[in-house]
Amino acid sequence: MNDIVEIEEDNDDVPTPVGELSLQTIAMPADSNADGDIFGGWLVSQMDLAGAVTANRLARGRVATVAIDSMVFLRPVAVGSVVSCYTTVKDIGRSSMTIIVEVWARHHSDAEHRKVTEGQFTFVAIDENRRTRPVPRTS
Ligand SMILES: CC(C)(COP(=O)(O)OP(=O)(O)OC[C@H]1O[C@@H](n2cnc3c(N)ncnc32)[C@H](O)[C@@H]1OP(=O)(O)O)[C@@H](O)C(=O)NCCC(=O)NCCS
Repeated sequence: MNDIVEIEEDNDDVPTPVGELSLQTIAMPADSNADGDIFGGWLVSQMDLAGAVTANRLARGRVATVAIDSMVFLRPVAVGSVVSCYTTVKDIGRSSMTIIVEVWARHHSDAEHRKVTEGQFTFVAIDENRRTRPVPRTS
């Protein structure tokens, strides 16, 4: 099985999530600022978890986030929104896995599914001593 997916040209006019649904949650009041907007840091945390779900599967074990690149916040997220994180494997190295995470949000007030952020996360497969180890190859 080949887990790496060719990344197509980004086209935000096409309102369809790209990737595998790896995590879904609801944005709660405790995750927002005084104006009711969800903190960017909370979203990054959900993206890190979603990427880790995919990286754990690929690495068949423990992983650590080594880098977060190319973050972009496109739209605010309202409290009560259903937040969905989609992951696409961009690259697998010896021990590293580069994963694109897209976040989409839907609020019951208009039921519109909107892309709110995207970022590139790199995880490294590590052993029990925190040393890097090879990502198992799939045939
Ligand atoms: C992850 C960690 C074990 C890697 O150790 P290291 O000594 O940097 O290992 P290496 O230099 O051999 O790099 C390992 C892999 O990560 C990749 N890598 C390292 N830094 C990177 C970066 N900034 N961006 C992208 N990839 C990176 C390397 O290219 C290498 O990939 P490959 O094995 O596929 O060729 C170590 O940096 C670490 O423990 N970091 C803290 C992780 C952590 O706690 N994360 C949670 C956030 S607090």
